[in-house]
Amino acid sequence: MASARQVLCLCALLCVPRVRCEPIRYSVAEEGESGSVVANVAEDAGLTPAQLSARRARIASADGRQHFRLERATGRLVLAERLDREEMCGRSLTCTLAFELLLENPLQFFRVEVAVEDVNDHSPVFPGERVTFKIPESSNPGLRFPVEAAQDLDVGSNSLQAYTIPPENEYFSVSSENLAEGNKYIELVLEKPVDREEQPELLLSLIATDGGSPPRSGTTQIHIIVLDANDNAPTFTQKLYIGRILENAPAGSVVLSVVANDPDLGLNGDISYTFSQAVSESQLPFTIDDRSGEICVTKPLDFETTQKHELSVLAIDGGGLSGMCNIVVEVVDMNDNAPEVVVSSFSSPLPENTEPGTLVALFAVRDRDSGVNGEISCALEDQVFFSLRPAYKNYYELVTMSTLDREETAQYLVVITAADAGSPPLTTTQTFTVDISDVNDNAPIFNQTSYTMFVRENNIPGVLVGAISAADSDAGPNAKVTYSLRPVYPAEQDPCSCISVNSENGHVFVLRPLDYEQVRQLEVLVSATDAGSPPLSTNVTVRLLVVDENDNAPLVLHPAQDSSPPSSELVPASAEVGDLVTKVVAVDADSGQNSWLSFHLLRATDPGLFAVGSQNGEVRLRRPVTERDAVKQKLEVLVRDNGQPPLSATAALSVLLLKGLSQEHLPQQELAVQDEDSSLTIYLIVSLVFVSLLFLTSVAAFVACKVFKRKELKGGHMLYGTGNLQSSLAAGAAAGTLPHAYCYEINLTTGSGNSEFKFLKPILPSVPPQHSGTVFLRMLTSSFFFPFSFLCVFKHCLMNSP
Ligand SMILES: *[C@@H]1O[C@H](CO)[C@@H](O)[C@H](O)[C@H]1NC(C)=O
Ligand SMILES: *[C@@H]1O[C@H](CO)[C@@H](O)[C@H](O)[C@H]1NC(C)=O
Repeated sequence: MASARQVLCLCALLCVPRVRCEPIRYSVAEEGESGSVVANVAEDAGLTPAQLSARRARIASADGRQHFRLERATGRLVLAERLDREEMCGRSLTCTLAFELLLENPLQFFRVEVAVEDVNDHSPVFPGERVTFKIPESSNPGLRFPVEAAQDLDVGSNSLQAYTIPPENEYFSVSSENLAEGNKYIELVLEKPVDREEQPELLLSLIATDGGSPPRSGTTQIHIIVLDANDNAPTFTQKLYIGRILENAPAGSVVLSVVANDPDLGLNGDISYTFSQAVSESQLPFTIDDRSGEICVTKPLDFETTQKHELSVLAIDGGGLSGMCNIVVEVVDMNDNAPEVVVSSFSSPLPENTEPGTLVALFAVRDRDSGVNGEISCALEDQVFFSLRPAYKNYYELVTMSTLDREETAQYLVVITAADAGSPPLTTTQTFTVDISDVNDNAPIFNQTSYTMFVRENNIPGVLVGAISAADSDAGPNAKVTYSLRPVYPAEQDPCSCISVNSENGHVFVLRPLDYEQVRQLEVLVSATDAGSPPLSTNVTVRLLVVDENDNAPLVLHPAQDSSPPSSELVPASAEVGDLVTKVVAVDADSGQNSWLSFHLLRATDPGLFAVGSQNGEVRLRRPVTERDAVKQKLEVLVRDNGQPPLSATAALSVLLLKGLSQEHLPQQELAVQDEDSSLTIYLIVSLVFVSLLFLTSVAAFVACKVFKRKELKGGHMLYGTGNLQSSLAAGAAAGTLPHAYCYEINLTTGSGNSEFKFLKPILPSVPPQHSGTVFLRMLTSSFFFPFSFLCVFKHCLMNSP
């Protein structure tokens, strides 16, 4: 300042001589204290301080404001007040205060100009302490954001010179452009993209610095809010999600959840999930919650169809960016499929004569499950008749184990159980209904081992006498039984003509009347034959017994009724009461009751003299013979059988009472017997030998006759009782008497109705031998009948010989 003053002073000195045209110039810094000296204006005007006082120097300014004071004593110009250049001159670069120094006596003035010099007394000031910007993230570098400039009231070099941003900020720089009037246009320039997700907002200071010395600065805070841009796609936490779910999981079961993240804000970070499958979602068994990313099952899964589902899930944010992940859903097998039995072939019905080991059915088992759930084992319930045999792979064969019998079991239900090895196991049963077809393996069986039927003799032709029945346990035609008569001997062509059997129902008929006295029983062979192929048959014997009817009257044999004159019995007058006179011998061709004979005295010359034994026909003396009794007595004995109604015959007898003969006449035999025991023995022996010979002869003759006749024997009639006859004869021969035997008819001519019969008469003396007379009589009667029987046989042979 001093130098400046000197310059000014020099200038003033130079100017003064030239009529004060030039003003005296000073300069003073603003903000000087009041009273501080600006310059010694008196000296510069060439005046002395005395003159100043004398001439009453004073300062006058145009606006009347007194910024300066003049010290008259010293001639110095001092500041009257604090000067503020900015107030006085504003932003103009020069600020000059002009005034005049007035002097009187003479009036003289000097122009004085004081230039107020700027002092850096103001700092740059921003309009606001804080400025907020919003910039979209990912804006390109170079983007400019204008900032309102700071103001510095100072001028010149004291005015605002530069803007700076602290170097630690890497995103922005500041650019300023000088405008007119010293103004600057300031912009923040984006140097590098901002990522909201990294730095959602920035705070930086913008510093404005002026050129003063020392420089002053002003700061404003710049707050930068980074606006979100959808610059982030959703990303899944995993690229691949693997879930496992049981195949029978109910609909709605959660398989897994996917999670995607999007760091963007708001809508840009708003993720929704969808399947990215090309297939429509309705076909997928899954659904995804678009908000939570939870994947659920919508319908039951089937391991057997799909073991693994592969999906892709898209996560889309509100800005349309998307991310994708892959999902693998493994379906876990459950034992949810029962084994299946598939029958390949099955043969039914099966003939009952099927060999054991025959294949009945071939079937396969399978299970759609896997692992142990698909391991199948097969079992058979019936192990007796059938068995299971693995064939190949999963095929099984059902074969028969033993022989089958339709008659025992006509149908088998073979139950096969297939079970898998799951837990719990699932089972399937397959039932084979095996029908057994019939084979003709059973002959008809008669319900009786033999049949005995009865027919009354003299039957009407074609009478039904009974039925035979045979059953065949086979089925169908194999069980259809027909009956037929068989010849008894294979050689015979025609079976008995008098019996017929209904081939359908087995009814047995007798075709023609039978006579008990000719035929007592018939035997025929009937066979029951089924309609199988080949047919099977069974024979059975049907015995027809002819039942006797009382159709024969008794026949009196002794005494002979046809002899004339009738022979007479001789009775000595000395005979005692009870002595046997004679015996009426009669037979009845009937049998049983019908042949039981009873004897009754019908009439007599003297009914009181004789008694007839009703059972045995013996005529005995009832009382002693007297002189008055007629010599010739006639008796009639009624012989009656026991039939219903009874038939009878009469026997006429004549008895001569020998009065003179007395005791000794008749018993000549008795005497011989009594006196001559030895001769009687000889008689007996002779008789026995004779009888035996006779018997043997008759047997021989009969046998010969029988052999001879054998070939000519015809028809169903049998020769009955020959055995009995022989044995009876033999027995009689052995015992010396005849047994109480039946009379047998022997008639080999067929169809003959006449009752030509021979007989053996049953005679048995009912009275035990009391003396030799009766014994002898017995012998006589016995010996009488053996020849008779012989004759009977012999005659028969002769008659039937051709
Ligand atoms: C055998 O069958 C016949 C005819 O059907 C019948 O009359 C008879 O009583 C049966 N016999 C037996 C022992 O069942
Ligand atoms: C049945 O009898 C006939 C003839 O008499 C014979 O040929 C057949 O062999 C017999 N059948 C049986 C099973 O005995």
